[in-house]
Amino acid sequence: MCGIIGVVAKSAVKSVLEGLGRLEYRGYDSSGISILSNNKIHTIKAEGKLTNLKHRLSRQPIDGDCCIGHTRWATHGRANVTNAHPHQYGQVSVVHNGIIENYLHLKQQLMQWGHHFNSSTDSEVIPHLINHYLAQPMTHEEAIEKAIGQLKGSYALGVLINGANNNLYAVKQGSPLVISQGSHGAYMASDAMALGADSGKIYYPEDNELITLNSNEIKCCSRSINKKIHFINNKKYVKAVSKGEHSSFMEKEIFEQVDLLKRLSVNNHTNEYSIINFKDLNKITIIACGTSYYAASVAKTWFEQYANILVEVDIASEYRYRSPVVIDNELTIFVSQSGETADTLAALRYAKSKKAQTLALVNAVNSSIAREANFTFEIYAGPEIGVASTKAFSCQLAIFYKMALEAAKQTAFIDKQELTQLALNFVQLPYIMEKVLQRCADIKLMAKKLCKYSNILFLGRGVLTAIAQEGALKLKEISYIHAEAYAAGELKHGPIALLDEQMPVLVIAPKNSLTEKLLSNIKEVQARNAPLFIIGDHSINEHINLRDDEFFELPAIPESILPIISVIPMQLLALYSAQTLGKNVDQPRNLAKSVTVE
Ligand code: M6R
Repeated sequence: MCGIIGVVAKSAVKSVLEGLGRLEYRGYDSSGISILSNNKIHTIKAEGKLTNLKHRLSRQPIDGDCCIGHTRWATHGRANVTNAHPHQYGQVSVVHNGIIENYLHLKQQLMQWGHHFNSSTDSEVIPHLINHYLAQPMTHEEAIEKAIGQLKGSYALGVLINGANNNLYAVKQGSPLVISQGSHGAYMASDAMALGADSGKIYYPEDNELITLNSNEIKCCSRSINKKIHFINNKKYVKAVSKGEHSSFMEKEIFEQVDLLKRLSVNNHTNEYSIINFKDLNKITIIACGTSYYAASVAKTWFEQYANILVEVDIASEYRYRSPVVIDNELTIFVSQSGETADTLAALRYAKSKKAQTLALVNAVNSSIAREANFTFEIYAGPEIGVASTKAFSCQLAIFYKMALEAAKQTAFIDKQELTQLALNFVQLPYIMEKVLQRCADIKLMAKKLCKYSNILFLGRGVLTAIAQEGALKLKEISYIHAEAYAAGELKHGPIALLDEQMPVLVIAPKNSLTEKLLSNIKEVQARNAPLFIIGDHSINEHINLRDDEFFELPAIPESILPIISVIPMQLLALYSAQTLGKNVDQPRNLAKSVTVE
């Protein structure tokens, strides 16, 4: 992961620090900057969150017109100052996002040539290599090109070289990089959202195009490529994002869902989905990671139930190494909030190499996944900053629901009356969601009790198994409570052995066609004295008699939209549990928002 940024403009340090703030969602193990001032590079780094770096800079103020910065998610080497970027060696300082797979081999070679290394990172070989080639002698561009020619793996780099007349070099292979030209300067970053108000026109470089940025121009200056850069206008992701009145981005994003769903339910995007010829499809394969994968699992049920289309769902990191069979008339859908998840991107490239028709369902429409797929549908969630995904999940589900209805229309698997009812359910959805959110205080009560346990089992049935999985993922991500989810029918096949007074079970039990079956599973839990928590229909509690802090009553919800509503109490439960335990919900330990490494 990691976020990189570079600025060539007046007060570059200020712009880099602001940009790093917007990139912190990519990692916050350490941060650092290098400034090129009077042909000399100064590097300042700090362990932990960006505030630590700002604190150091307030004691040691420095500025210049050319600056690179980095916020780290540790892969190779612990999260400490030595391993923090930029890595400076001799005349060169480098920020890197990605992984250099052959770094051990390169390091060995460089050590034989007399180089000494400080860090345990893979990245440190890059400034060493560039230095080595500069001494040949070579020009800056030649040395960088020669060095990247040695690298195997993925990278987006920002490079400063002593005495380079305030030039900043940027190049990438496989990792995201955006270049921007503003009226006051030139910028590079891991994503467009990191760019400040001065940016506007942006350019996405191809792999291994070496870009030189300085105060007069931005040029593509590699030996092999000499082309004019065409910038595109993009104001969309540049606007600042704030928490507003909320205590965290995650809380804001949970409560934003009502308005987003209202917008999605009135906008007639359904026409957009008619470009897919669902009627002739033999199969849909949906590929994603994490929360996006659980959205895919819900979508499978909808496509099968309403359109009778065979759907397979796969985890991207499994799909890409499994040599899966791609059949004729198969649509492969890639779901990703960020559009930059390395495993999902690699799976997309694999599917394309097998001539599959590919569709991206993304939030970031300028992302790599969006740009590389044959078709792209946007989920319209707006920037999601909280590392735990919430609003992107419900928007992914909303778009899948609309796609499933379009598929149902084309295949005519259900009758028109049912189709109309399903569409009406979707219009009601945000209003029912609003009712659930208005009762957030009841979930807070439940969270206060639940967060005292160290482990918890989540149960659901049918399509709600995926919601139980999503609920468990949310809870463990931000509260660090160990949570696992099962299809309730699986309980008796193993996990029931875990049940005792210390192993609470949370069941999603709304009113639907499986309620009675679920009731038997709930009784099995009660018989083992496991503390029970239920998010469900009031009729369930008539049989169980749970207290107010153990039972959250769901309003009446049409069955088709149950997954989109019932995830809301799960999100709130995770949020309030983590808050009660005093955790940082927006920046949970060890995680990053955009997983751009394998
Ligand atoms: O950006 P993507 O949707 O591709 O991200 C996939 C996962 O990394 C992501 O959903 C992750 O599981 C979140 N932290 C979940 O809250």
